[in-house]
Amino acid sequence: MTAPQADPMRPRPYRVARARREVRDVMTLAIEPLDGNGTQFAAGQFNMLYAFGIGEIPVSISGDPTRAGPLLHTIQGVGAVSRALCAAKPGDVIGVRGPFGTTWDTDRAAGADVLVIAGGIGLAPLRPVIYQLLARRERYGRISVLVGSRSPKTLLFEHDLQAWRSRLDLDLEVTVDHADTAWRGNVGVVTGLLARAPFDPLNTVAFVCGPEVMIRATASELVDRDISPESIRVSLERNMKCAIGHCGHCQLGGVFVCADGPVFSYDAVEHLMSVRSL
Ligand SMILES: Cc1cc2nc3c(=O)[nH]c(=O)nc-3n(C[C@H](O)[C@H](O)[C@H](O)COP(=O)(O)OP(=O)(O)OC[C@H]3O[C@@H](n4cnc5c(N)ncnc54)[C@H](O)[C@@H]3O)c2cc1C
Ligand code: FES
Repeated sequence: MTAPQADPMRPRPYRVARARREVRDVMTLAIEPLDGNGTQFAAGQFNMLYAFGIGEIPVSISGDPTRAGPLLHTIQGVGAVSRALCAAKPGDVIGVRGPFGTTWDTDRAAGADVLVIAGGIGLAPLRPVIYQLLARRERYGRISVLVGSRSPKTLLFEHDLQAWRSRLDLDLEVTVDHADTAWRGNVGVVTGLLARAPFDPLNTVAFVCGPEVMIRATASELVDRDISPESIRVSLERNMKCAIGHCGHCQLGGVFVCADGPVFSYDAVEHLMSVRSL
């Protein structure tokens, strides 16, 4: 699965092969290792990306884990490092440590209905799990992908959304907080889409990612709809430095988000999710 790295604190140089603008402040970088040794990853894992001379941040891998090729990361420019990464051009070199962290547990969902629920940039860490589910579609019951976005202009991965919408073996529902005059779809928060999703609460696994407030609201609504907290997987984001469980920067109560997460079973972190840091 994860290729072991000799020194997990030493970034490997990767060349930017392609840089694609998704929406105004979000870029997807396709990167290739200069040493030619490809990196395998599992859906849910992240890398530490280093904009040399500026800094390093955790970013989930957003590509297809079932296919070889450049590693994809989808980055929203919110501060110094993420903006520097978003500005990278083909040919530029960035540093990469990883992959790190736990994975969306698709084996747990075998034989069950699956809900994939994304808010905003949270669709980036979830895209690999959707690819993975579809690669072995016969293993799962009904699959529903529910996507919430601030506005039509901030909707990510238009190409994938179109492909998923055209499939008969997957239900895709999209909603926006604020519509524009051209929008003909749903308006409102992503939890509002749950009523449209066909699932058997006693045999469903849910994968949830987005802003923490959205994760909390969604998980609590799923529990209200009789999905057990153990069947809900959430991915948490905390500021990170080492990403290998040494520095304590990402500590949340008794857990280290970098090493014990970022993907957790909801019952393991529900009581910690309102804690900023300890
Ligand atoms: C496991 C993991 C996976 C992530 N995956 C992605 C991804 O796929 N795509 C993506 O765009 N971002 C992702 N992030 C968030 C990304 O790491 C932060 O946006 C980044 O650290 C911001 O750093 P900066 O130096 O650009 O901005 P800063 O100047 O550090 O911060 C700018 C703003 O972002 C907030 N911020 C900083 N760090 C984080 C953080 N870790 N989580 C949430 N908010 C933060 C700050 O509070 C501030 O409001 C992930 C974070 C984690 C922990
Ligand atoms: S980032 Fe250092 S312990 Fe998690």
